[in-house]
Amino acid sequence: MFAARRTIGLCQRRAFSATASQASKVTVLGAAGGIGQPLSLLMKLNPRVSQLALYDIRGGPGVAADLSHINTNSVVTGHEPTPSGLHEALQGSDIVLIPAGVPRKPGMTRDDLFSTNASIVRDLAKAAADSCPNANILVISNPVNSTVPIVAEVFKSKNVYNPKRIFGVTTLDVLRASRFVSEIKKTDPADEKIPVVGGHSGVTIVPLISQSKHSDITGETLDRLTHRIQFGGDEVVQAKAGAGSATLSMAQAGARFADSLLQASQGVKDVIEPTFVESPIYKSKGIDFVASKVRLGPNGVEEIFPIGEISEYEQKLLDACLVDLKKNIDKGIEFVKANP
Ligand code: NAD
Ligand code: LMR
Repeated sequence: MFAARRTIGLCQRRAFSATASQASKVTVLGAAGGIGQPLSLLMKLNPRVSQLALYDIRGGPGVAADLSHINTNSVVTGHEPTPSGLHEALQGSDIVLIPAGVPRKPGMTRDDLFSTNASIVRDLAKAAADSCPNANILVISNPVNSTVPIVAEVFKSKNVYNPKRIFGVTTLDVLRASRFVSEIKKTDPADEKIPVVGGHSGVTIVPLISQSKHSDITGETLDRLTHRIQFGGDEVVQAKAGAGSATLSMAQAGARFADSLLQASQGVKDVIEPTFVESPIYKSKGIDFVASKVRLGPNGVEEIFPIGEISEYEQKLLDACLVDLKKNIDKGIEFVKANP
């Protein structure tokens, strides 16, 4: 995390044990998948979670039975792939993590997943809007630039939309940025705070190296680093050679973002994470959603920070990002209008 995680140590451990008893229900939709299983494991290990509800179109109860033997206090429930099973998984939930949907294969873009994942996310969003309209919804399913607007449109159509509670999880871009910089600079990645703004696919991923302590990274090194952060997902897709995309690193990223929200909702101050939310930053350009640094609080989004001072290099990246981002967002909105 950006600000709050700097305090890790005795202080934070105290905060952890002091708040661990507060009830927090976390639901994972797509819990038996490549991301869903390790993400559910990490949530089972999180002392801030009191109930973990697992739902998938196949295998949810099995994963739940397995995780339920881990000796942490949270209660794990597995739910049948039926409307009532989905409702039970969602009812009373504080945080709904959505990694349901198909992953990429080599040669595909995230946008190529739209035809399958858009309707999966729309239908799960409908269920969440009905069963837990006040929950924080954390969208992992790709293409995030479109699936987050889809969730927002569904919630609007049911008159329960709260822009402070719908998030696209872009934390994996932040993890990659800090890890890849640390490899270049031979530093501890935990000390690297690199804001990543824009969206979550290719050129819409905009790392702001000038805002890190490494504004001395320039030239070809900066080109290579930027490209690696923007296309890190492709690196994993290629390496898995048809068996899917990032799952373990994504689980860690999703668990970190969920933990940040849990911390914020349980009173920890200055919890700041980059995330893709409805935002005023580029509304004048007709772009309603963008990832930027966000302060999280008990009500979800507490404060959206401006992009801030950036280099000419980053401005060019951002200009390219906004062109694609607008198309991706509009595509999601149009989809729900045409396929309510
Ligand atoms: P996976 O195929 O391994 O798992 C997906 C799971 O979703 C499966 O278990 C499947 O049964 C389940 N599912 C499908 N339709 C469902 C429905 N209607 N309701 C409930 N569950 C349903 O895929 P994965 O590797 O876990 O990836 C999942 C998604 O996450 C993909 O869209 C992928 O592109 C995306 N992803 C996003 C990020 C990110 O940074 N936001 C990172 C990695 C992957
Ligand atoms: C990632 O960044 O790893 C994910 O969005 C999965 C993908 O398709 O690359």
